[in-house]
Amino acid sequence: MLYHIVAVAGDPEKGEGVIGKNNQLPWPKFPEDMKFFRAATDGGTVIMGRKTFESLGCRPLPNRENFVLSRSDIKVPEGVELFHSIDASLRQASRENIFIIGGADLYRQTLERIDGIYLTHIDGPYSGDAKYPAIPVCFQVDPIKSRELSKQYHLNVVFYQKADCPSA
Ligand SMILES: NC(=O)c1ccc[n+]([C@@H]2O[C@H](COP(=O)([O-])OP(=O)(O)OC[C@H]3O[C@@H](n4cnc5c(N)ncnc54)[C@H](OP(=O)(O)O)[C@@H]3O)[C@@H](O)[C@H]2O)c1
Repeated sequence: MLYHIVAVAGDPEKGEGVIGKNNQLPWPKFPEDMKFFRAATDGGTVIMGRKTFESLGCRPLPNRENFVLSRSDIKVPEGVELFHSIDASLRQASRENIFIIGGADLYRQTLERIDGIYLTHIDGPYSGDAKYPAIPVCFQVDPIKSRELSKQYHLNVVFYQKADCPSA
């Protein structure tokens, strides 16, 4: 299965969800969300754009198959594989669950191919230069897979399941 996993401030259903600023997250790190991200993606394949890879310190995430996309022949460390196209990376992914982990460019290009979205709502008036694309109306919230991550910071993860989407 192919998923997006993303943290968003603002309204993602209207395409107003902010995800990044100056190639970083616009908010401080929330340990609850980081823990959720680690648990959800553990053992899976993570696919990211070159800019997100740089924002994460150009290192592989442990216990996951790490794929990075760039149109150039950038150097990547051991434990990371470089691909020049989304199709090539998806063909090579060997794990059952594959996660597109950002950023905006990658989310936008893969929105029509995914089976679901793990979306953490970040509470606060954060602004930024990277946005999550509007979630198509054919994605429906699955309340069983959605839950509160932190009462203190009003963090909630919502799982959007792809339902009957018209084919492109
Ligand atoms: N809130 C969240 O959950 C979250 C998660 C991840 C990232 N972010 C944020 O998102 C922002 C980064 O997003 P972004 O859109 O600027 O960049 P990005 O999607 O991380 O990376 C874009 C780069 O990926 C490569 N690329 C994209 N599509 C490709 C394709 N089809 N084939 C080959 N290579 C391809 C290109 O690299 P080259 O230029 O090298 O060719 C492109 O410049 C940052 O602010 C980051 O902090 C937020």
